[in-house]
Amino acid sequence: MRSQLIPSPVLHQARLAGLICVATALTIAYRNSAPDAASASGQSWSRDYSYMFAIISDIHSNIEALTAVFEDIDARGIEKVVCLGDIVGYGANPRECVDLVMDRCEFAICGNHDHAVFYEPYNFNVGAERACYWTRQMLEDEPKKAQRDRRWEFLGKLPVRAVYEDMLFVHGSPRRPVNEYLFADDVYSNPHKLMANFERLQYVASFVGHTHVPGVFVDDPYFESPDELAEPGIYEIAEDDKVIINVGSVGQPRDRDPRAAYAVVDEGRVEFVRLEYDVDKAVHKILNTPELDDFLGHRLLEGR
Ligand SMILES: [Fe+2]
Repeated sequence: MRSQLIPSPVLHQARLAGLICVATALTIAYRNSAPDAASASGQSWSRDYSYMFAIISDIHSNIEALTAVFEDIDARGIEKVVCLGDIVGYGANPRECVDLVMDRCEFAICGNHDHAVFYEPYNFNVGAERACYWTRQMLEDEPKKAQRDRRWEFLGKLPVRAVYEDMLFVHGSPRRPVNEYLFADDVYSNPHKLMANFERLQYVASFVGHTHVPGVFVDDPYFESPDELAEPGIYEIAEDDKVIINVGSVGQPRDRDPRAAYAVVDEGRVEFVRLEYDVDKAVHKILNTPELDDFLGHRLLEGR
């Protein structure tokens, strides 16, 4: 394996091309038979939205968790899936996870780890930065040029936000879609941050990931985990709502529950789903990859 971390000229050019795409792509191009167009038309929540879809986020190269999630999605007969980013970073199977998201999702949003792998890591700790460079090398070492180029092109064109009807899809927060964290503790320690985000939110609901902790922010501001909701695991979005909903993390949950997390949305009814998966296998792969810190594996066992 090549050990140098400096991007090749070809890769560098690809990244430069992608920079233009990321900077300009404020809405997204839907694939296949997805909704007609992303728009901010102000239509009511339920109008023309009579199908279920799933939202996944923060896969972090954990193919065991992602496979389990897609098996559950398929078993429910859900055909449309959207991804809120951080497809890569931390885990041992970046190629496989990018391929699955490319092939199965209507669209995907750019997460800070996707951005870091394509450009440069920013504000990462040492372990995350090492994982980022290793991930980049894995993608660059793909022997099939067409597949390698397809993955880089996909990562380089990920938009930072998407809108459909009254829903905003971002990785981090409505005002800073790639990098801002919205923590449950912000309700008490930094309510102004949450209020600023609600002021920027022009839609009924925003779906986010990034913190790897599922739950619902309402504009009091207040946060409820799925277990704290009136109907545990379920949130019904009202048309006069203003909510920011974190769907949790597929591949690296941090709410002390190691099960994979994702969400199903059906006409405004949001179900927070948790799934057992072969976490030991995912951990084993990380522990056997010298470039990935052991902590990245151990934390999966505890969901932290
Ligand atoms: Fe993440």
